Amino acid sequence: MLRTHTNGELNLTHLDTEAVLCGWVSVLRDHGGLTFVDLRDRWGLTQLVFNPEKDQALHQAAQKLRSEFCIRARGVVKKRPEGTTNAKLSTGEIEVEISELEVLSKSKTPPFDIDSDEKISEELRLKHRYLDLRRQKMLESLTFRSQVIHAMRTTLQGQGFIEVDTPVLTKSTPEGARDYLVPSRVNQGEFFALPQSPQLFKQILMVSGYDRYFQIAKCFRDEDLRADRQPEFTQLDVEMSFVHEEDIFQVIEGVIENIFKSVLKKSLPTPFPRYGYEDVMSRFGSDKPDLRFGLEMRDLSKVFEKTSLKIFQETLKHHGRILVLQVPQPAVAGSRKDFDDLIAHAKELGAGGLAYGKLTEEGMDSPIAKFLSAEEMKAIQDALPEKAKPGDLVFFAAEEKRKAQRILGAIRLVLGKKLGLIREDEIHLSWVNQFPLFHYNDDEERWESEHHPFTGIYPDDISKIGQDNANIRSLSYDLVLNGNEIASGSIRIHDAEVQKKVFETLGLERKEAESRFGFLLRAFDYGPPPHGGIAVGLDRLLAILLRRESIREVIAFPKTQRAICLMTEAPSVVNLQQLKELGIKIA
Ligand code: AMO
Repeated sequence: MLRTHTNGELNLTHLDTEAVLCGWVSVLRDHGGLTFVDLRDRWGLTQLVFNPEKDQALHQAAQKLRSEFCIRARGVVKKRPEGTTNAKLSTGEIEVEISELEVLSKSKTPPFDIDSDEKISEELRLKHRYLDLRRQKMLESLTFRSQVIHAMRTTLQGQGFIEVDTPVLTKSTPEGARDYLVPSRVNQGEFFALPQSPQLFKQILMVSGYDRYFQIAKCFRDEDLRADRQPEFTQLDVEMSFVHEEDIFQVIEGVIENIFKSVLKKSLPTPFPRYGYEDVMSRFGSDKPDLRFGLEMRDLSKVFEKTSLKIFQETLKHHGRILVLQVPQPAVAGSRKDFDDLIAHAKELGAGGLAYGKLTEEGMDSPIAKFLSAEEMKAIQDALPEKAKPGDLVFFAAEEKRKAQRILGAIRLVLGKKLGLIREDEIHLSWVNQFPLFHYNDDEERWESEHHPFTGIYPDDISKIGQDNANIRSLSYDLVLNGNEIASGSIRIHDAEVQKKVFETLGLERKEAESRFGFLLRAFDYGPPPHGGIAVGLDRLLAILLRRESIREVIAFPKTQRAICLMTEAPSVVNLQQLKELGIKIA
């Protein structure tokens, strides 16, 4: 090695010994005739001292150093003088008196200060990611990422899982986003698709008997990007045979428990609570509820069966529902503007409006109060999730059921944040299962899979296929962390007859199914075992555990919201010769 120690290593036990250090110049300062250099590497900072009285030429060379020069220095470890120690650094009690200095390479003046806490524009950071990655915060992110992946591997390998890597040049997978395509030169006019997930390969591995598979897999999806979505992201992908969903829950709970224990040094209670989809939708208005705070909703449709309030009457006539969200005695009194903002927010989400009121000793103070009878007022109070008290706020949504749930679910989140109800330090993990198998696409007038067409069906509901499609529950499940979906999976269909019925319901002709998933269907001709699996969104999990604002903060070389890499400037135009070889013309 070019060095004897790293910059996080030396301490009082090394006094008066010689050390050779390498790294980057973080800070250079002159003080009392001496020149000090803070030398940085991955492991920390060490203070180097150049004393002109000992070696004038060397001192002059030190003064010529600049930020981010890469250097190598030899010297003797000394105790720092009284009053100059730095308790924040592991090397804070020593300094190295330098006798030899070598500039390994020079640096231009960096476009931002690596060691400052000042906010730097993300564009600048991504463009110069090589420098951004030198910053402590990024180093922390990537170190954590590596430790979490290590914990995932050791937990699963310890339980007999085998890691198999699957192709990146492949065929379209069924996750439902747009594919990234790669043209084939050898077979002009034909394209590979980059995998949206290893879904079909891992099911095939189950047919092949590789029970208990996992992979840290790259997935590619051309979809609208957000803070928690990247075109290229990483999953912990798992598949198992001869299991119930409960077995998969336990494996993933074990993985996450071990991440907490071995990386975060915290204990995490398991099992995580389990909720049915209908339960969370009707109580929290979301299939990924943030359960770090209360605020629940209830269905009051029954209470208003005979109401004289026109909008409620109309909603019920058209099979809609009237839901109420209760906010028990908020600490901050809502201003007129607060309510107007909430109404505007509900309207953005497609609500016709948002009725609200404040409970009083007598009943309710509300623009709709005059239309409600005394019995209705009493029945509202009796039906609320928590005992009604004067000062409680109530919000009503009168809409189609799912729409009403989503609107009040969104209002619940806004209020949770605004009223400071969210216990920010808490980690709340829970399973949501029994999702609907299908949803109806009104625009295209057809049934679509809520997840993908291989999602298993709740045994009691199999007979409903083709009869009562809206009420079929699937054997799929999500893991929710603080209001974010961090994992998703299902028990798969392994019965050819059931699979056929699902394809029929989706309007997928045998021929089309054959051309899209033929290889899986052919594999399924040879004794497919009952199987199921899950994929954990690694980037999302890391970003939430580290409390970073976006998953870009936990990925070494991410893309922007516009799906470009500012550092490499990809995607980019290619030369005509390349296109010609591929048989491609740009329209
Ligand atoms: P799904 O599509 O739900 O399931 O993906 C699993 C998890 O991956 C994460 N995720 C993403 N993270 C970052 N950027 C994206 N664009 C992105 N899309 C998804 C989420 C999500 O919960 N094959 C199935 C899994 C299975 O059934 O086993 C699948 O991929 O955290």
